Amino acid sequence: METNRYIIDFYNQYDEDNRLTPQHGQVEFLTTMRYIERYIKPGDRVLEIGTGTGRYAHALARQGYAVDAVELVQHNIDRFRQNTQPGEQITIVQGNALDLSAFADEQYDITLLLGPLYHLYSQDDQRQALREAIRVTRPGGVIFAAYVISDGCLIDEGFNRENISVADYIRDGLLDGQTFAATSQPKDLFELVRKEDVDRLMEVFPTTRLHYVASDGCALLLREAIDRMDAQTFALYLNYHFATCERPDFMGLTSHALDIFRK
Ligand SMILES: C[S@@+](CC[C@H](N)C(=O)[O-])C[C@H]1O[C@@H](n2cnc3c(N)ncnc32)[C@H](O)[C@@H]1O
Repeated sequence: METNRYIIDFYNQYDEDNRLTPQHGQVEFLTTMRYIERYIKPGDRVLEIGTGTGRYAHALARQGYAVDAVELVQHNIDRFRQNTQPGEQITIVQGNALDLSAFADEQYDITLLLGPLYHLYSQDDQRQALREAIRVTRPGGVIFAAYVISDGCLIDEGFNRENISVADYIRDGLLDGQTFAATSQPKDLFELVRKEDVDRLMEVFPTTRLHYVASDGCALLLREAIDRMDAQTFALYLNYHFATCERPDFMGLTSHALDIFRK
């Protein structure tokens, strides 16, 4: 599939394993883990769809949970296997979030979909990935779905870092010049959304939202400042972030958002 080619080429050369390692990357990791730990119970089974190199899957396996993982890109699967430590109860298979037919219905207590929705470009595909994640989750189980947020990325990658040209994006039809709403195609790699898009996507599912979280808040925008912080200041910054990451004020500023809902 041509769509997959773009994703495979990207992740073959991207250092996904170290994305969450710097202090600023820890903000997203620690926030996501904090919410998972709020809901996970001893003996729970976990599925991570689009596990990458397994940062979350391995962290949970090392806490003693049985974790199954699915990943599209062989390069990431190879790193995932290298990262597996003795004693982890963990499996990985190559697969696509759009078709989890290898997995039976209602098997998992905690289902993580932290990445595939970054790379699905139509509402039908996004809903199909969510439908599959919901199907394999037990009634009462909790699903974590992550998104890339357009305004946070435009402010940081566009206006701040100039890694992308906002003017070119408008010229090429990737951004609406009036509303600044984003549209992507597979060749653009990342699907950028706003909270209203996530709300619309979720309207058809009989699930209950538990939290909607600005998972990295301003961490990418402030990455140099956060990486300079000593341990005490970083601990204070994390306290600030945890106290504010569900505030509506932050939902457009964050680069990533986490939708947490119960089946
Ligand atoms: C940004 S990484 C996130 C990895 C990990 N879940 C995390 O949060 O650190 C996104 C991952 O999703 C994978 N992915 C993208 N589309 C997918 C799909 N349709 N099915 C399965 N995995 C997919 C990518 O190959 C990549 O490893």
